[in-house]
Amino acid sequence: MLAPTPADKFSFGLWTVGWRGRDPFGDATRPELDAVEAVHRLAELGAYGLTFHDDDLFAFDASAAERERRLEALRKALAETGLTVPMVTTNLFTHPVFKDGGLTSNDREVRRFALRKVLRNVELAAEVGARTYVLWGGREGAEYDSAKDVRAALDRYRESLNLLTEFVRDRGYDLRFAIEPKPNEPRGDILLPTVGHALAFITTLEHAELVGVNPEVGHEQMAGLNFAHGIAQALWQGKLFHIDLNGQRGVKYDQDLVFGHGDLMNAFSLVDLLEHGGPDGGPAYDGPRHFDYKPSRTEDLTGVWDSAAANMRTYLLLKERARAFRADPEVRAALSAAGVDDLRAPTLDAGEGYADLLADPRAADFDPDRAGERGYGFVRLNQLALEHLLGAR
Ligand code: GCO
Ligand code: MN
Ligand code: MN
Ligand code: MN
Repeated sequence: MLAPTPADKFSFGLWTVGWRGRDPFGDATRPELDAVEAVHRLAELGAYGLTFHDDDLFAFDASAAERERRLEALRKALAETGLTVPMVTTNLFTHPVFKDGGLTSNDREVRRFALRKVLRNVELAAEVGARTYVLWGGREGAEYDSAKDVRAALDRYRESLNLLTEFVRDRGYDLRFAIEPKPNEPRGDILLPTVGHALAFITTLEHAELVGVNPEVGHEQMAGLNFAHGIAQALWQGKLFHIDLNGQRGVKYDQDLVFGHGDLMNAFSLVDLLEHGGPDGGPAYDGPRHFDYKPSRTEDLTGVWDSAAANMRTYLLLKERARAFRADPEVRAALSAAGVDDLRAPTLDAGEGYADLLADPRAADFDPDRAGERGYGFVRLNQLALEHLLGAR
């Protein structure tokens, strides 16, 4: 039950376990990790997928021969282990050329270069069988309000997305795009900073059906938002194409802790939503459970693999706890007393309009003062959730 298997669909970014611990204040604390070794280790731990940026696999300026050599080694490791590549993404942030962004840089030649980099890597994504292409625009933003015409930048973002969806349609690729919002870091203010901003932007695209979101736990929490609520809305709009799981403790720099090592109650609600939020009480999301975390800088290689395993084990523990929560008759009674199920009933009767509502003969029977006296029992319900989470029930 707590041993991960490929059926759990756990995936990891090559840049996560491969992070060497370099931060703005200090050098790397760990040696380089080879992609082939990462594939073998992740497969042994029970993961099913590996994801990567183009530059995680080969250097920014790698020759065609070098790219092919690296790819061939990866293909071999994937074939040996059965690991898949469910998602691929582009690095449009490390090289100095992207210091003012890629797709929305003020420099038109940089934007054209960035788009070519994405197009080439979309070809690679399709070749390795990825179904999702993530766009994290970490450098798309500004530090100074006067330095970026935000409306023009959004025009350029839209122009880029429209080109990318045209490309996958023309090529017949079975690939969808997922925008990953983040409020800040590395830019002072990043464009499309939250799930809500991204969802609104997507409605303006030519092929909106091919574009969804890849929300990351910590990114929404850096903006002080409730991650599980953002995920619920993305699901409600049919836009949860991918998800980045990790941990964050409040409004501060992007911590990328192990999943559950931040806001544990919200992580419980999230897993409950993903696993039991479907209409029949089944999973509401069937895509990869992707971990985008960083093994802390204090850890050696043993700590890297321990932390990778911890992400999966925490997810499975929360899944088990959420199952117990749902199955508890006391929880069912508390949910019912709280009116949680009643919210599913439409506010109007079938065929009823505003005129009927205004003329409702039962309207006089409703006493707002009495209705205002009702206790909803939400605290008791939350305590039951907490007790299940703690294993006390
Ligand atoms: C971050 C982001 C990145 C993206 C990744 C995928 O560093 O804040 O989470 O890790 O997820 O670049 O494009
Ligand atoms: Mn992050
Ligand atoms: Mn991420
Ligand atoms: Mn990250």
